[in-house]
Order: sequence, then C-alpha cells, then structure tokens
Amino acid sequence: MELPFAESYKIKVIEPIHRSSRNEREQWIKKAHYNLFNLSSNQVYIDLLTDSGTGAMSDCQWSAMMLGDESYAGSSSYHILKETVKRITGFEHFLPTHQGRAAENVLFSALVKEGDVVPGNSHFDTTKGHIEYRKATAIDCTIDEAFDTTSTHPFKGNIDLEKLEKVLKEYPAERIPFIVVTVTCNTSGGQPVSMRNLREVSNLAKKYGIMVVYDSARFAENAYFIKRNEDGYKEMPVKQIVREMFSHADAMTMSSKKDGIVNMGGFIAMQDEELFNSASVYNILFEGFVTYGGMSGRDMNALAQGLEEGTEFDYLDTRIRQVAYLGEKLKSFNIPVQEPFGGHAIFVDALRFLPGLPREQFTAQTLAVELYLEAGVRGVEIGTLMADRDPVTRENRYPNLELVRLAIPRRVYTNNHMDVVAVALKNVYDRRDEIKKGFEIVSEAPIMRHFTVQLKRV
Ligand code: F0G
Repeated sequence: MELPFAESYKIKVIEPIHRSSRNEREQWIKKAHYNLFNLSSNQVYIDLLTDSGTGAMSDCQWSAMMLGDESYAGSSSYHILKETVKRITGFEHFLPTHQGRAAENVLFSALVKEGDVVPGNSHFDTTKGHIEYRKATAIDCTIDEAFDTTSTHPFKGNIDLEKLEKVLKEYPAERIPFIVVTVTCNTSGGQPVSMRNLREVSNLAKKYGIMVVYDSARFAENAYFIKRNEDGYKEMPVKQIVREMFSHADAMTMSSKKDGIVNMGGFIAMQDEELFNSASVYNILFEGFVTYGGMSGRDMNALAQGLEEGTEFDYLDTRIRQVAYLGEKLKSFNIPVQEPFGGHAIFVDALRFLPGLPREQFTAQTLAVELYLEAGVRGVEIGTLMADRDPVTRENRYPNLELVRLAIPRRVYTNNHMDVVAVALKNVYDRRDEIKKGFEIVSEAPIMRHFTVQLKRV
C-alpha cells in the first residue's frame, strides 16, 4: 500500500483556542456591527480571516531571532536579508519596509503620478488604493476565465495580452509607470500566473518600454503551481523557478507576511540603481533608514530564514495540499467554490451559494456572517464591500466575483480544523433557502471601507 501524505514538520509549541456558543456569537457579531474585522480574536474559534502575518515560525526562525542585530545602520541582519533576497530573487537592490503596503507606498511615491494608468492582473486592494490615492487608475487585464469560478484553467492569474496591449497602445508610455503582476493573484482567488505568461508580459512591456513590477506576496506558491502544472518545470527545483520568474520583472514589492512566513515585514527589490536611489528617499521618509526600513534586526533574521523555508518544495506541498483538502471537502458537500483551488485560500462563490439575495445587500458578507454564527469560523468578504465605491460616481462597484475567502494561515491549523470549517459551511448551505436578507451600510470610510464599515440587518 502506498504511504499516505503527511505534513513535513511536527509540532513543538501550541496555542489553545476556544469554542463558543451560538448565543455568544450572535451578541458579539451584533456588537461588532456585523463587521468581522471588529471581532476580538478570542471571539473566533478558527480564524481564516487572512494568511497574512498569521503563520507559525519554525524553530530555526525563532533561533535566528536571538541573533538579530539591532544596530540602526548596517546591521548584520540587514546584510543577511539583503544577501538572501538577492540569492532568491536575483535583484541587486533591496529596501526593507514594515509590510507590503508600505513597500507599495514607497515605490509608488517614486513612480506613480496623477493621471497615470497602471495595468495588471486584478490588483490587490492596497495596491489599487495606493494607485487611486495618487489619482491614477488601475486597469484590470486579467483573462476572462478568472471570473468564471467553474473554469478549470490552471493559470487563472494570467494577464490577457490583448487587453494589456490595448492599454499600452491607448496611453503614451509616460503615463504608464509600470505593469503590475500579482503572483499569485489574490483578488481573483489565489490563482497563479504561468511562466509563459510572465515571459510574454515581459516581452510586451519591453516592446513598449514599460517596467514590470511584481506584487510578490505569494511568489513561492506561484512557483509551486508552475512546477506542478506547467510543461517543462516538473523536475526544476522551486528556487530555480522563482529565479526564472523574477528574471522577467524589473522590480518587486513584497508583503513578507505571506510567503516570508513572518508576522510582520515587507520589502522592495529592483535591478535599477537609479530607481533604488529615488525610492530610498521615500523609504527614509516613510519607513526608516535604508538598512532597517521599519523592521527590527531580529525580524529581518527571521524573514531571511523564512524565505529559505518558504521556497522549499516539501513545505509548499504540505501547505497547498491542505488548502486543497478543504476545497475537496467543500466540493463533496456541493458547495460552490472557485476552481482550481488557489494557493493560500479557498474562495466560496457567494453568488452561487445565495443566488436569491440582492447584491446591494452584500451577498458575500451575508455568507461570511452566517459562517461565523454557525461555528465561530471567521472568513473574509471579497466582494462588493471590498470593491468600494467608484471614486468618480460614488456608486457601489459590483465586482465580477462575490466571494468569501477562507484563507489558511501557514503551519497553524490541522486538517481536523479544516473538517470543522467544511461541516460548518455545509450546515449553512443546507439552510441557505432560509437566508433571505442581507445587510445595509450604517457608516463607511471613503476608501477601503470594508475594514471599518458598520452594517445592520436589512
Ligand atoms: N499584495 C497582495 C497580493 C496582498 O495579498 C497583500 C495583503 C498586500 C499586497 C499588502 O501587504 O498586508 O503586508 O501590507 N494581503 C493581506 C490579505 C492583507 O489578507 O490578503 P500587507
């Protein structure tokens, strides 16, 4: 008999979590104005709000923390991290930042101006936020298959080259500071971009003299999918695939809280010295001196080790198989989920789950609240609330997909927890016909409203 698959690690430290009663949860979520971001973590049993900064560090990462050098300038931790980033990505220059959006803030301060357009695959909300904050426009050029949750295209993060070239033709090069490719594409469901697509985007960008920047939060998961599903990469080590991916980019922003497997951190890396120099000014202004940029020495040490571990096949295989385990369970209960399963999360298709609910009543948010009430499982809405209002008309934007994301922290939960999540969602699915009303907004912020929005039941 073939031996079954098992995790590539064992557990050394544990953290207790607690169940609650439905009655308690009803009171807590009402007090939180039906916004899951407002719950305290002790009101949550299984927290799938995000895979960002929620991973478990390894013994090697914790021991690297002790060796952190907290010198203001030129610490050994900085040099270790810079050397690791160069070895893993191939980029010459590197700036640490305190997280991914800070990297966006610094790099975009150097590159994006009013009236610019930034094409890419579905931009993440902070990326889009940083573009729109500068009165520029993000243009989504993702392939159409990404918006069909039943399409089994293996690389649904891909950029549609025709859509991209149309933008490159329509606007002068001075108004396109760069093309942003998000690997994997979080907004379209943690979907990977193929190496072929990365190569073709790079070729097209070169033809028009435009830079390519990767939003790289989950670059290692992207490389894993290339290895598994793209011809010619089966035998190639993940680290080599990663180097090839970045060889098609000019710069990267990184949220280290994902594939760096640390609780806080980010960075920018690039080939061009001139860009490094101009971004350095903003780094010092917003983040800190160029050799720490918002990170402590111990955190830079842990990140360097995390980048090594996060690009190992056995780790990635354990991680992505767990995500697929949850996906398969949900599928066995006929729950509509985005396929193929993403790298960091399972995305439940709320429009197919609750087809009768009007979208103005925030279908995905309604489903996320129901899941919390059912079992204390916290997911997150990726739908109309997150899509914000149109900056010009102030009308709600209705994105192509209305999803509840169940993001799985790295090395934190077991498959038993995944079983609880799956059954909780099944129970909600079984009573879906009774869910006839959603929510309306009581108050909201002008930008990125989903974090603080207050809701009431319709
Ligand atoms: N880019 C992508 C693709 C992301 O998923 C995130 C964060 C960021 C940039 C910003 O990085 O949080 O370190 O400032 N995503 C988290 C999530 C918040 O839950 O998906 P950050």
